[in-house]
Amino acid sequence: MSDRLFIFDTTLRDGEQVPGCQLNTVEKIQVAKQLEALGVDVIEAGFPISSPGDFNSVIEISKAVTWPTICALTRAVEKDIDCAAEALAFAKHKRIHTGIGTSDSHIRYKFNSTREEIIERAVAAVKYAKRYVEDVEFYAEDAGRTDNEYLARVVEAVIKAGATVVNIPDTTGYCLPHEYGEKIRYLIEHVDGVDRAVLSTHCHNDLGMATACTLSGVLGGARQVEVTVNGIGERAGNTSMEEIAMILKCHHDLAIETNINTQKIAATSRMVSSLMNMPVQPNKAIVGRNAFAHSSGIHQDGVLKNTETYEIINPKDVGIDENSIILTARSGHAALKHRLEVLGIDVTDDEALDDIYERFLKLADRKKEVTDDDILVLAGAERSNAHNIKLDYLQVTSGQGVKPVAAVTLNIAGELFNAAATGNGPVDAAINAVKQIIRRKMTLKEFTIQAINRGSDDVGKVHMQVEHDGALYFGFGANTDIIAASVEAYIDCINKFRK
Ligand code: KIV
Ligand code: ZN
Repeated sequence: MSDRLFIFDTTLRDGEQVPGCQLNTVEKIQVAKQLEALGVDVIEAGFPISSPGDFNSVIEISKAVTWPTICALTRAVEKDIDCAAEALAFAKHKRIHTGIGTSDSHIRYKFNSTREEIIERAVAAVKYAKRYVEDVEFYAEDAGRTDNEYLARVVEAVIKAGATVVNIPDTTGYCLPHEYGEKIRYLIEHVDGVDRAVLSTHCHNDLGMATACTLSGVLGGARQVEVTVNGIGERAGNTSMEEIAMILKCHHDLAIETNINTQKIAATSRMVSSLMNMPVQPNKAIVGRNAFAHSSGIHQDGVLKNTETYEIINPKDVGIDENSIILTARSGHAALKHRLEVLGIDVTDDEALDDIYERFLKLADRKKEVTDDDILVLAGAERSNAHNIKLDYLQVTSGQGVKPVAAVTLNIAGELFNAAATGNGPVDAAINAVKQIIRRKMTLKEFTIQAINRGSDDVGKVHMQVEHDGALYFGFGANTDIIAASVEAYIDCINKFRK
């Protein structure tokens, strides 16, 4: 008999906290529906007291999703819990996730409190949340650095107060895998009534050990894991959902099952990466574009003879179908719509589909084959249509022995503005021209260019961070012309300026 492991996805809470990864409510609903199709058990939809945007997203996700439990985060504070309960009003299955720091450093420096008082506050928060919902999860923040004996007392007290799930976060990503597993085992052996609750892992990846710690926690007896798509999250990120799902699928001998439909992993990964403008590193396990690419001659020879020689995962099991239809300029609306649906993008509005199709045809004219990644970029470009400032025209002259010069026309709320400038390279010249039109003090802080696939006809993606008036703004651009993509990313930042 296999044991069931519950998958708690926190892409929309811990993942979305990352600067530059913020999604609007419509995008969050899109991700939540994809997570439901993927088969996650719990969706942590947000931290409602933190902002009106988070509050609304929890409400709208609760309405849009049927099967998974919708969870809202709070501090161990009554007004947070009231707010979370209100945001969860429409959820078919709801959970409040409340908690407090339990390590000595959190108790002393964050709360200026004592161990006894922290237990009292933890118990009070769980009891208060229980007034609203049956399903209450408690997190002992920084449990990874909390001494096991005291942690056991906290866990016992909150279970007695009614916690149905107790989360043991390694908040700083400090634990060694065997230590983390022993921590869970210690709690199972020393907490009275531990069988009345599920213990949950929540591991951060600061030392690159999040997946190993999570697995070790599961082997120690945890039956819920808190994960994110592509491992995104604070600092070095959280445990990645796809790694845990595939480890358990590959290692049947562990006899632990999840409800994840692994064939939806690749599409989910691409959707999250595209909506959050967060590139996936090429060698990322399971979802990196090189994860199944055999480049050495010896490996290629082996794989051609029998895939089992070097492949422990069939790419089809994670939804990578090498034979999937590649769209070309001759593909019609129906083929594009189908591909968008496969990628988890539901375009019900005919006008929106026409708009994406028009951009698709333009791209297909420049590029022989339009790939899934290109399509996600095209679908994402719809978001910039609402921008006040748009790039209308760009011409750049550059080359060996030529001083780069750029001419730019911007459309600002329907009016056209022109400028020309030189620079130390074509991108610099184009951005200088933009700066002549938008006369604000702004500094480019980060500039990353990435090709999506391989060929020289590829679409390039550009990520930028621009500082303005003490705040950082994140922008994204995608174009087969890398200079145009850079200018688009710069303008995307400007469009987000608060003042
Ligand atoms: O890392 C952490 O401790 C958290 C808690 C708020 C659950 O994200
Ligand atoms: Zn966390």
